[in-house]
Amino acid sequence: MKETITPHGGNLINREIAGDEKAHLDQRVKGLKKIRLDSRQISDVEMIAVGAFSPLEGFIRKEDYHSILHNMRLKNGLPWTIPIILAVIKDEAKGLKEGEDIALQDGEGEILAVLHLEEKYLAEKDQEALQVYGTQDAKHPGVAYLYQSGEVLLGGRISLLRRSKHTQFEKYRFDPKDTRRIFRERGWKRIAGFQTRNPVHRAHEYIQKCALETVDGLLLHPLVGETKADDIPAEVRMQCYEVLLENYYPKDRVFMAVLPAAMRYAGPKEAIFHAIVRKNYGCTHFIVGRDHAGVGDYYGSFDAHYIFDEFSPDELGITPLFFDFTFYCRRCGQMTSNKTCPHLSQDHVSLSGTKVREMLRRGEVPPPEFTRPEIAAVLIEWARAQKEEYHS
Ligand code: ADX
Repeated sequence: MKETITPHGGNLINREIAGDEKAHLDQRVKGLKKIRLDSRQISDVEMIAVGAFSPLEGFIRKEDYHSILHNMRLKNGLPWTIPIILAVIKDEAKGLKEGEDIALQDGEGEILAVLHLEEKYLAEKDQEALQVYGTQDAKHPGVAYLYQSGEVLLGGRISLLRRSKHTQFEKYRFDPKDTRRIFRERGWKRIAGFQTRNPVHRAHEYIQKCALETVDGLLLHPLVGETKADDIPAEVRMQCYEVLLENYYPKDRVFMAVLPAAMRYAGPKEAIFHAIVRKNYGCTHFIVGRDHAGVGDYYGSFDAHYIFDEFSPDELGITPLFFDFTFYCRRCGQMTSNKTCPHLSQDHVSLSGTKVREMLRRGEVPPPEFTRPEIAAVLIEWARAQKEEYHS
């Protein structure tokens, strides 16, 4: 069966080298200048190499950087909203020459990849903050990262020698070529992708299942790269999903894999980016609910819907599935949304992430209208263990 959706830009990029090419580069790599990557940069390297960020083959160059900031597109016109950049401090950049190969190391000094440095240029942080995050407020986690990172950007293709040592989620790690194959094998033509960085609650489940009613399969794709410190850790979130899948989902219609990317909290810009990345994984549809990839009150609840109007369906390729604010309504006696429920807010059960974290800290179980009891049990156990660790 033919694939139903082509990767962004036409080809699935593969920058993971093997065989003779790898052996040759492995020999040379020890003599190269080295840069130590942080956790976001490590995940960016891996995402580029496996084609999740197709058509990018490396860290972007200056013309693409400006084009992304000002036109939400690469310089060739292809939609792209988040600059994938490698920033280093001035002192470190001084010794690096355009045209040379540079070894990229993880925190322990292991060499993961080589950057074929094509261009050095200056970051425009104020512009980037404004254009990508819509704010220059350093309290925004994406903006905070931007302002604390280096001022020189290194552009160029990368070659991945080895992946960073993963110790978690081994059985859920699938590259875009794998998920594409699995969708083909299952005979799914229409696949909805779901991005998440929070413990699954009933509003998530409701929008996933509404989407699944109209497509062949659902890709549950929790993001497990770096998130802000007060987000619930990925291993707890994955445990929640395992319990939910076991008890409430049809196994032949749902596939779960992790997305090892870092979260940027760029709201609408990140919604477009998340959709493009899921297209590369083979999804034909992408779920965008309320305040997608948002943080605090930096974005309007549905800005991540409106931004899709800036692109033609053809240039994006993947179809967004928009959902209004969803919640449990006591009078309807079911999950519903602002779009379909006629009742007043006092009949609605909905809790913010902060509220839930507060309840968990106090050892209170979130209500079943908000969270399935099996999920609540996982979260309560995590909160209890946290407390114990804190007091020991
Ligand atoms: S996100 O940062 O990954 O967007 P989260 O994991 O909370 O955060 O959300 C995953 C997806 O579910 C996003 O598309 C988000 O818009 C959507 N979503 C979360 N809660 C609701 C809700 N109550 N109503 C509608 N959509 C929601």
